[in-house]
Amino acid sequence: MFSLQKKIALVTGAGSGIGAAIAETFARAGAFVFVTDCDEKSGSETTDRLKAQKGQAEFLALDVTSEEHCRRVAKTVFDSQGRMDVLVNNAGIGHVGTMMQTSGADLDRLYAVNVRGVFNVTKAFLADMLKRKSGNIINLASIGGVVGVRDRVAYCTTKFAVAGLTKSMALDHAQDGIRVNCICPGRVETPFVAARLKEYPDPEQARREMSSTQAVGRMGRPEEIAAAALYLASDESAFVTGTEFIIDGGFSAGK
Ligand SMILES: NC(=O)c1ccc[n+]([C@@H]2O[C@H](COP(=O)([O-])OP(=O)(O)OC[C@H]3O[C@@H](n4cnc5c(N)ncnc54)[C@H](O)[C@@H]3O)[C@@H](O)[C@H]2O)c1
Repeated sequence: MFSLQKKIALVTGAGSGIGAAIAETFARAGAFVFVTDCDEKSGSETTDRLKAQKGQAEFLALDVTSEEHCRRVAKTVFDSQGRMDVLVNNAGIGHVGTMMQTSGADLDRLYAVNVRGVFNVTKAFLADMLKRKSGNIINLASIGGVVGVRDRVAYCTTKFAVAGLTKSMALDHAQDGIRVNCICPGRVETPFVAARLKEYPDPEQARREMSSTQAVGRMGRPEEIAAAALYLASDESAFVTGTEFIIDGGFSAGK
């Protein structure tokens, strides 16, 4: 078991799915976890669950699309814990559509959360990490940030951007004691995927098809992604930076 004892972590979009599983895994590994989400109800529920398991956690409402909100949350974190060790940029939204089925407004909406959101949150914490010469940033990209995925023009555009941001930041700050990695999951059973399935005319058939695109024939579980986040957050991964950690049940391995 990798330990996060004495580490302070913050997870965005931790009210649901992968973010909730990462927050839970981190708390179990001993971290103090700031659970953040723009949805106060689900974020508070995750926090209550962590506390019920004797984890150290605090909920902070955070909409990652607002630079000002991110700065305020960072100040609250610094005032109460003095620093940030592990930042997980997990909040993200999806969309199904080819170019002809995607509006400019769709692209802007996805970009605001998936790319600008990562930028805003990171910016709010980076200056302090640079001052302390220590920091660990984990971004949730996607397998759709490594290979093209049909019917996902806007989504893939944003997730390739997250992978690019990750790699350039990793190079810029490798000498500053700051590691930056991204995780690229294949399809994982979360409310996010449930929402995408509803966008298809036949959700059950779409579900079967989505499962079969993984070589292992099923979708992933949030805990399987959280395990990778735990490794990247731990000191055991000290030599890992700038990587795209693919966890996709063989989705991208080939036909
Ligand atoms: N589920 C998958 O198959 C899958 C695959 C690859 C990558 N991902 C990525 O993993 C991340 C988490 O996905 P998930 O499946 O757990 O999604 P989810 O929909 O279950 O949870 C996302 C959470 O983000 C929050 N959120 C949305 N907009 C926000 C905003 N503006 N500010 C703060 N919080 C916001 C939501 O309230 C929600 O709690 C996303 O970045 C997603 O793109 C998911």
